[in-house]
Amino acid sequence: MIEVKNVHFSYGETEVLKDVSFTIEQGEWISVVGHNGSGKSTLLKLIAGIEIPSKGTITINHIPVDESHIYDIHKQLGIVFQNPDNQFVGTTVEMDIAFGMENYGVEHDEMHKRVDEVLEAVNMTAFKTHEPHFLSGGQKQRIAIAGILALRPNIIILDEATSMLDPAGRVDILNVVKSLQEKYGFTVIHITHYLDETLTSDRIFVMNQGELMMTGTPEAVFNQGEKLIKIGLSLPFAMEVYYTLYGDVRFISESELYQLL
Ligand SMILES: Nc1ncnc2c1ncn2[C@@H]1O[C@H](COP(=O)(O)OP(=O)(O)OP(=O)(O)O)[C@@H](O)[C@H]1O
Ligand SMILES: [Mg+2]
Repeated sequence: MIEVKNVHFSYGETEVLKDVSFTIEQGEWISVVGHNGSGKSTLLKLIAGIEIPSKGTITINHIPVDESHIYDIHKQLGIVFQNPDNQFVGTTVEMDIAFGMENYGVEHDEMHKRVDEVLEAVNMTAFKTHEPHFLSGGQKQRIAIAGILALRPNIIILDEATSMLDPAGRVDILNVVKSLQEKYGFTVIHITHYLDETLTSDRIFVMNQGELMMTGTPEAVFNQGEKLIKIGLSLPFAMEVYYTLYGDVRFISESELYQLL
């Protein structure tokens, strides 16, 4: 459903994306990893039509991502950023979620139905009339995700959307998105610095200095763990432990590790 073909992008003189090509199928969960400045957020800006490639093409469901199709493209996408504080517009949680739908011309009755549905999905029904401003970081992130879900996008992009949460909160939010993905079948692109969060993805994209260096299942990518270490990435927890104990870099799940120990 997403096709990126030979895409290049520069900020001024500096080329920050170099000949990036890939396709993503409807319903896939893609994790994107890579060092700071490797081009992850830029790539998402291009997919969302916020920036336009200097060379190459991007299509979503065969619609070109360019200025003349921007409305159709935005209707398909929901993006959750790292800092939810900048994302709230409503004075209550309920109004905030409704606001996004109003912009999309969703009918009044339908709007109320969806607000209740998505609040329940993210386990925040009790906060419906609260002010978003006074929620905790994790609660804000849940509301930001609920607001996106209410718009029923085909694609949800999480750009380090869990990075301000504690480990339990991160797992929690990702589980919420996972179960909703099973229900609604949307595509997820998840940019993250936490390698453990990538283990349940369908595929991992590894960015390095503006290039898409590697793609594959978690097992395929992490079996090439040495390459990841070389470009300054860490390994998932179980692999780090295995490496420390046995001096060997190979893909291993936590449960496999525990059986060994
Ligand atoms: N608005 C901008 N103007 C000029 N250069 C920019 C701009 N935004 C990003 N860059 C540069 O483009 C490169 C890629 O940045 P990008 O934000 O895509 O990286 P990233 O992989 O998302 O990094 P991080 O992990 O830190 O979020 C970096 O070298 C960055 O300095
Ligand atoms: Mg980024």
